[in-house]
Amino acid sequence: MQGLAASSKLSLTIVVVVFLLGLASAADGRRRLVSSSPDEPCKKMTLYFHDILYDGGNNTANATSAAATNPTALSNSTYLGMLVVFNDPVTERNVLPVGKEVPAARAQGFYFYDKKESFNAWFAFSLVFNSTEHKGTINLMGADLMGEKTRDISVVGGTGDFFMARGIATLRTDALEGLYYFRLQMDIKLYECYV
Ligand SMILES: *[C@@H]1O[C@H](CO)[C@@H](O)[C@H](O)[C@H]1NC(C)=O
Ligand SMILES: *[C@@H]1O[C@H](CO)[C@@H](O)[C@H](O)[C@H]1NC(C)=O
Ligand SMILES: *[C@@H]1O[C@H](CO)[C@@H](O)[C@H](O)[C@H]1NC(C)=O
Ligand SMILES: *[C@@H]1O[C@H](CO)[C@@H](O)[C@H](O)[C@H]1NC(C)=O
Repeated sequence: MQGLAASSKLSLTIVVVVFLLGLASAADGRRRLVSSSPDEPCKKMTLYFHDILYDGGNNTANATSAAATNPTALSNSTYLGMLVVFNDPVTERNVLPVGKEVPAARAQGFYFYDKKESFNAWFAFSLVFNSTEHKGTINLMGADLMGEKTRDISVVGGTGDFFMARGIATLRTDALEGLYYFRLQMDIKLYECYV
């Protein structure tokens, strides 16, 4: 029985190896590029994230995000516990799309406020590209340390043109207009790319 178990373990290993080789060739013959230095990402782009928060009445037409939960009583003033769901336009220039202009991508996901003493948030979203230039997604998540001038979140994966992407996105608040609009500059640097 022992021998049988060992040989079936071996054949399982072989199956897994063959499966992984199969996956590698399924990447459309793409080659994996891993950057060797933080200064030399294999792909870099700057995009702007526009969040127009629903104000409860006047901006129904242009709002692209809305609070899905109320802040908790523990810290109402820093919105602790408020979760905002968004499907926001993302552009290459730092202005909102004008007229029928199609944004470069949409950011689909959520953030929630998570600190009692001051404003701080946690983000998880996908950049969804569906343009002639790019098709696919880049998936990002991490702590948005709002007190910092710039903060890094992780690029944890990607699909389509961004197959298996990994890297860092540096966020900077580019504009903050009242309670219902902010714009983030996102410098996305990928350190693992399939090309
Ligand atoms: C909506 O607009 C009205 C009229 O300008 C204003 O009094 C009200 O405060 C606005 N509501 C919000 C949530 O901004
Ligand atoms: C969204 O629409 C409201 C109401 O028309 C307007 O006051 C506000 O400036 C708009 N927000 C942005 C960011 O364009
Ligand atoms: C939060 O503060 C507002 C304004 O001070 C108050 O009306 C509301 O009841 C508070 N909400 C909670 C959950 O404490
Ligand atoms: C992507 O763009 C194509 C062509 O404009 C359109 O037909 C399709 O519905 C879009 N897909 C999504 C998920 O928006």
